[in-house]
Amino acid sequence: MFIVVATSRILSVIFSKIAKLFGAVFFFSWDATLALLNLIIPNYKPHAVVAAGSPGHGGLWPEYVPPKEGDSRCSCPALNALANHGILPHDGKNITFRQLEAKVREVYNFAPSFCWFVPNNIAGILDRDYKTDSFDLSDIDVHNGIEHDASLTREDAFFSKSQGKPSIPRIQKLLQSGTGPNGDLTTSDLSQLLGQARVESKRMNPQYSQAPNHKLFGSSNASTLLTIFGGKIDDIRPFLLEERIPTGWQPRILNRFGLTVLKFNQTVFKVELGIKEELSSEKKKLKRALANQGSGIGYNSI
Ligand code: HEM
Repeated sequence: MFIVVATSRILSVIFSKIAKLFGAVFFFSWDATLALLNLIIPNYKPHAVVAAGSPGHGGLWPEYVPPKEGDSRCSCPALNALANHGILPHDGKNITFRQLEAKVREVYNFAPSFCWFVPNNIAGILDRDYKTDSFDLSDIDVHNGIEHDASLTREDAFFSKSQGKPSIPRIQKLLQSGTGPNGDLTTSDLSQLLGQARVESKRMNPQYSQAPNHKLFGSSNASTLLTIFGGKIDDIRPFLLEERIPTGWQPRILNRFGLTVLKFNQTVFKVELGIKEELSSEKKKLKRALANQGSGIGYNSI
């Protein structure tokens, strides 16, 4: 009897691992095919990404109405903006995962692969059925699901239970950090901001944690500011401070099949690999040690 139970458990683990592997192979092949098709099929003309009849066509977005008392909002400015414009339900409640998939595709022009993957991922984290279940925006704030410490637009969950509210000081810091033309954000600005946020959180937050996948979520979220918004500070300001789609804004990703995971990850890896958090915390330790010794030698050259 023991042998039968043990064998069936081992087999079910092996089968689920094989199924996951096939799932991953299928997903990346799908995404790579879309990336390839994007190279072959001509792009949309600028200002023609949002189809006629869809919200945002011609840069005309449904009216922006800030959240009211009792509305559900989350740690993601992009999803809150959809609710603030009524593209997702304004109260942020009872949203189906499929609705989320369709609206993220329609408004931001991420590829179908990305728009399927992220809502699926969050459905898994919430232990809900992707095809039939729904969620409120605040549900996605489950700590160390996708939401994590050391974000650029929210205080850590340890300090702020309500992740639905933007942290104005953090956002102001981000908005003042652009070193590109017109103060626009660059890849290295975001690497630096994320590195500083991680070092700060590690120092201040007694429950700080940051697994490698959360680091990647952090750099992925930040990379949307470079890809979807082109680093443009004038668009990013209302997007982050008010969680509003900028007036007249239109998707700047012109590919027919949207921004694929493959293409997006090129930016994500540049941002993540540019982060020197360990180095800068080491530098700080070294500076502190030197300052304590009362020695200025080499201080500025560290
Ligand atoms: C597809 C469904 C999406 C889900 C489930 C989702 C989920 C999340 C979550 C949970 C966070 C909080 C992460 C943290 O703790 O910092 C977040 C942050 C963020 N997301 Fe989304 N997101 C989605 C789509 C998007 C899209 C399409 C964009 C861009 C247009 C975007 C841009 C951002 C930005 C800029 C942040 C803030 C990052 C920070 O504070 O460091 N997200 N998202």
